[in-house]
Amino acid sequence: EKSGYDYFMLKEIQEQPSAVADTLRSHFQNGRITLDEQRLDPSTLREVDKVFVVACGTAYHAGLLAKQAIEHWTRIPVEVEMASEFRYRDPVLDRQTLVVAISQSGETADTLEAVRHAKDQKATVLAICNTNGAQIPRESDAVLYTHAGPEIGVASTKCFTAQVAAVLILGLALAEARGTKYPDEIAAEYAALQAMPDLIATTLQVGEQVRAVAREIASAKAILFLGRHVGYPVALEGALKLKELAYMHAEGFPAGELKHGPIALIEQDLPVVVVMPSPTGRPLLHQKMLSNIAEISARGARTIVIAEEGDELVAKHAAHLIEIPRTRTLLSPLLTTIPLQILAAEIAQLRGNDIDKPRNLAKSVTVE
Ligand code: M6R
Repeated sequence: EKSGYDYFMLKEIQEQPSAVADTLRSHFQNGRITLDEQRLDPSTLREVDKVFVVACGTAYHAGLLAKQAIEHWTRIPVEVEMASEFRYRDPVLDRQTLVVAISQSGETADTLEAVRHAKDQKATVLAICNTNGAQIPRESDAVLYTHAGPEIGVASTKCFTAQVAAVLILGLALAEARGTKYPDEIAAEYAALQAMPDLIATTLQVGEQVRAVAREIASAKAILFLGRHVGYPVALEGALKLKELAYMHAEGFPAGELKHGPIALIEQDLPVVVVMPSPTGRPLLHQKMLSNIAEISARGARTIVIAEEGDELVAKHAAHLIEIPRTRTLLSPLLTTIPLQILAAEIAQLRGNDIDKPRNLAKSVTVE
């Protein structure tokens, strides 16, 4: 049921506050973080000394954010790899390795084979999945279900934000198991997470402004996305949404890489979407990003800047400024992603594309 929307995807974008709220609600009870279908000894998580995250597409971008959160909160080293690469190599895994498989459908062929590859080497496997009883959670030792509800649009939106919430929950669960954070610190982080659904709802109000930007750039031949730190996976996700929905050339880069090649692509009027770090949370990165914006503006780029509200320093550098509420850095991708989803959906519609069923794509990739 599209409930008055022209496309399921537009409805699913609006459902993100509840997708995240439902995912959070079901994993925090009586002051403790809970996993689903835990078929492993609780001491196993305490002994984990390395984490591998395996996933494809959008779920891989959630994996890149898992690395930031888990390393920050637990000091356990985390590697993130596309399942299609991981499954055909010889990664270094053992009984103390936790492999986290992220998959909305729970049926993606490469991710499933990556799980089997990990199990063959005695690693513990935890699945983050949106589909109850799918094959990947069935073959895993523990599961953390996202509760985004069914996602009809082939391009993932609410399942991505629910996956981001899930990797943050997992980071806190590991910090709890290993004792790297005090219980009151974990409760404080969780409380910050629980405030996110309301902040996502506030962020959704940028819709009209983003659609106006979309009308201005819909006929561009390419769009670039720049981010740093947690903004980098968001840039990759923004570019993927645009490719899938608008069939436009789009690339996401870490802004620090600009001078190592991508700056050669900047030309007059090229739209460049910049995901700004917080001026208070990450002042150094914020300053670096201001220099990046100056460099690309000087070469004629049309900057579309996603920044924290009240970021006065960036305001004068941005051709278009899209403001999002202030939050903790690790949680900010839950907000910065939203305008990029709306941008891709709107450009795609202006180009006459079916945004629920993009050409050549399938919702669940069960063959290689
Ligand atoms: O079901 P999965 O999460 O395993 O699917 C992984 C990718 O195929 C999926 O995220 C794909 O990239 C989407 N079309 C993204 O919008």
